[in-house]
Amino acid sequence: MGPQQTQYGIIGYPLGHTLSPAMQNAAFNFLEVDASYEVFALPENKFDDFMMGLKREDNPIFGLNVTVPYKEDVLDYMDSLTPLAEKLRAVNTIFIGKKRNLIGHNTDAPGFLAHLSELNLETANKHVAILGAGGSTRAILGALCMIPERPRLITIYNRTYERLERLLGDLAKRLNLSIVQPVLSVEELQIPKADILINTTSVGLSVDDPCLVPDEDIHPNLFVYDLIYNPAKTALLQTAEAKRAKYSNGLGMLFYQGVLAFQHWAETEIDGAVKEIMRKTLEESLQKTL
Ligand code: ATR
Repeated sequence: MGPQQTQYGIIGYPLGHTLSPAMQNAAFNFLEVDASYEVFALPENKFDDFMMGLKREDNPIFGLNVTVPYKEDVLDYMDSLTPLAEKLRAVNTIFIGKKRNLIGHNTDAPGFLAHLSELNLETANKHVAILGAGGSTRAILGALCMIPERPRLITIYNRTYERLERLLGDLAKRLNLSIVQPVLSVEELQIPKADILINTTSVGLSVDDPCLVPDEDIHPNLFVYDLIYNPAKTALLQTAEAKRAKYSNGLGMLFYQGVLAFQHWAETEIDGAVKEIMRKTLEESLQKTL
């Protein structure tokens, strides 16, 4: 057997919804790079072995994306973290060097901000309401608190309040969260007065999932952002459409975080033509799942 092909991939569990392989493999094909991007669906009992195996010299994996539920768990295995990943204590991209050193990056936060900028969505002095306190919330909340265009107020609600408290307690050690107000109910999010509503929960991933927000809270001056991109239009986004609010799903964030991840692995910037292929492939793959 000759040398194994270089591999990249995504780890998480479950991974049924991921569009990352289509996007990353399209870039490899276009650039004629001899590498593949695989899906590593890791149940909890396989996670430690897999992570320890990344250190082995003969391991063909040189880069990974990390998704639910491992964005925090992988921190223990990193040899170093970028300052952003350290601030957020969340890693969604791993770079593996020739000496098998693991570097943890966070491309979710800049990916989210790049998408907001594409959408021309202004955050400075706005009231942002957030649903959720899971793995992706760290990047969203952290990003909004770190940028110069800080919102005036972020109200945030999670079904399990203790989880939200823990998340904020941890982030507060490294970030200024003075604009963040955790609340105990959806009503207290004050969506009728808010400018932007962001869903970071997994509610909506299943087509039968309900909308977590009462219909009458959604208004035409609200921008509704759902991190979920598959299905492309969750019950929340359908309500936004019916109420004539502007809205977006999270496909753009997936795209930008994926471009940034690719650039970390390639250790170079990629040009517009590659990005176009990645975006087009994502959009086409999503169409196919409909
Ligand atoms: P991710 O990494 O994608 O954020 P996660 O860490 O599993 O995924 O977090 C899922 C989020 O969706 C959490 O905020 C979770 O709320 P809890 O902390 O109360 O579990 C939220 N969520 C999941 N199912 C929900 C439901 N049926 N109603 C309300 N929130 C829900």
